[in-house]
Amino acid sequence: MTVDPYAESGEFIDVFSRDAWQTLGPPIVSALRGAVPAHGPILDIGAGTGLGTFLVAETLPTAEVVAVEPSPVLRAVLLSRLAAGESLRPRVTVVATGIENWQPPPRLGGVLAINMIGHLDSQRRRLLWAELRTRLATGAPLIVNLQPPAEVTVVPPSVFSTITIGRHTYEGSGDARPAGDDDDTVTWTMRYRTRTADGTTVRDLVVVYPWHVVSGTQLLDELADAGFDAAVGELDVVVATPRD
Ligand SMILES: C[S@@+](CC[C@H](N)C(=O)[O-])C[C@H]1O[C@@H](n2cnc3c(N)ncnc32)[C@H](O)[C@@H]1O
Repeated sequence: MTVDPYAESGEFIDVFSRDAWQTLGPPIVSALRGAVPAHGPILDIGAGTGLGTFLVAETLPTAEVVAVEPSPVLRAVLLSRLAAGESLRPRVTVVATGIENWQPPPRLGGVLAINMIGHLDSQRRRLLWAELRTRLATGAPLIVNLQPPAEVTVVPPSVFSTITIGRHTYEGSGDARPAGDDDDTVTWTMRYRTRTADGTTVRDLVVVYPWHVVSGTQLLDELADAGFDAAVGELDVVVATPRD
């Protein structure tokens, strides 16, 4: 059985991802302008709590969206968000599985895979790019982003987000080190602290999971081999389109 790296930390992922999505939004919206919703649905792979799914649905008001998300806790947030409003319910389908266990529809109008490719090893990524290449409309984008580190190395501890909700301040931090047993993998140790106004830590959750490192060059090579033209753009957002 596959281990869900978000089983415990899933509680915090949505609140800590909001700022990042504010920043990532513009280059992703710009890439989505090339989508072809008339050809098929837009696929959001590893949709998480739906921050990208909603951006797709709002940017492309006629598009059907399919959100693939294996983590029950993240999926619960996504489903709740969808259930909360009438408007997107008819257009967004949530698929409860990892991408490796599911066959995408034969035609796709675009694909998003944001903040997630490190969950897939290089063999799985290559299979995925090949599968998507045959399904994507001419000119339709596969939108992926690169995340640090770009090589297997030590990443010192740093705080990546804080947010105050009520009387509690939530702080997310993390560090990474080479996994040692696999030459493309680091082990991230993520720490989620909950503090009161006087600085007392009332919860301290530590989660460890593997992450497959992929550099820009490596990703562009993989995409070229699968038949895509691709470039690394603003904020390391990679836009790939099927080569003619
Ligand atoms: C850091 S979260 C990003 C979520 C969302 N894309 C975002 O940016 O807010 C990584 C996501 O990838 C998902 N994921 C992990 N392995 C996956 C797989 N094999 N297939 C599809 N999604 C996967 C996780 O469950 C999680 O939702």
